[in-house]
Amino acid sequence: MSKVSSSGLIVAILFLTGCNEQANNPLENAPPYPIQDTVLHKVVSEYCIDCHNPIDKKGKLDLQSKLDGHLNDYPFVWHEVSLALANNEMPPKDKDGVKRPDQETYQRVSAWLNERFNHKPEGKN
Ligand code: HEC
Repeated sequence: MSKVSSSGLIVAILFLTGCNEQANNPLENAPPYPIQDTVLHKVVSEYCIDCHNPIDKKGKLDLQSKLDGHLNDYPFVWHEVSLALANNEMPPKDKDGVKRPDQETYQRVSAWLNERFNHKPEGKN
């Protein structure tokens, strides 16, 4: 086997094992986190799905149909949600008549999400 083809093979292996991916799954190696019966389920059902449902999909985002599964099913989506909630960015502030969580609720749901997204598997920084 020539030198060229074996380094090509290494590149292919790195690619297939995901070393080349631009963003790492924030829940890689994490245990499964069901969403049902959690504060996240409650907050999203109450404050988010009027706009983020399969029909409306504001920002191209349907959260309603993701509520049944695990955080791990859509790690990138829920991570984005965790950022939006931590920064009190959603629901949009400039919209009149849209119900927003109070500060305590924002903090409670953010804490729940942070705890899971900050989970570090054994042996990883
Ligand atoms: C009144 C309608 C409305 C409600 C209610 C609403 N959103 Fe949004 N959301 C939008 C719109 C419009 C966008 C796209 C434009 C933007 O980013 O402002 C968006 C975008 C997003 C995004 C994409 C990234 C971002 O921050 O722009 C996330 C994540 C998000 N919403 C999460 C939520 C969550 C979580 C809730 C509930 C706590 C929520 N939204 C409630 C209208 C809404």
